Amino acid sequence: MAETGTLHDAFIDELRDTYDAERQLTKALPKLAKAATSPELREAFETHLEETQGQIERLEQVFESLEEKVRGKHCDGIAGIIEEGKSIMEEDFDETTMDACLIAAGQRAEHYEMAAYGTLVAWAKAMGHTEAADLLQETLDEEKAADEKLSGLAKGGINQGAADAAHPEEDEKEPAAVGAGAKKTAAPKAKSGSRR
Ligand SMILES: [Fe+2]
Ligand SMILES: [Fe+2]
Repeated sequence: MAETGTLHDAFIDELRDTYDAERQLTKALPKLAKAATSPELREAFETHLEETQGQIERLEQVFESLEEKVRGKHCDGIAGIIEEGKSIMEEDFDETTMDACLIAAGQRAEHYEMAAYGTLVAWAKAMGHTEAADLLQETLDEEKAADEKLSGLAKGGINQGAADAAHPEEDEKEPAAVGAGAKKTAAPKAKSGSRR
């Protein structure tokens, strides 16, 4: 009879899923870097690729600390996020808009990883796997920093650049004052009929 799984089994399973996710990301990050126009954005993806390689090694250490075989298990979640990122890269956007979209795609992946590592750290701590918890926390911190770096680039000009390209005229004009805009907005015809 099959034994009922424990949190430890779920933890190992989640580690394998995350190990596979990281490996998928080492293939996706170079594509994001290549598609980026902003040199800072490209560098952010390249730096995170290096970190991701370190995260894979760190996960291997986690498996060892638990005396478990190093093994991955296909992560459907990150595969879907990567697939969406690929679709974005096939779109015909202007350069800054593409950069804004690449950031969005990258941040989806980072948030997915933050969720995964957050759970892993909490479970490792709860079960007293201190070494694993420390290693996983290091990666969680890196994922958070990568996410913040991407937010910084988006807010530091990429989003505004893309927004200005989307609405070039409105950018030049002053926002319509409440009173001044009133004349332009013709009153609905029906209203004049209702007057005496
Ligand atoms: Fe990662
Ligand atoms: Fe990451």
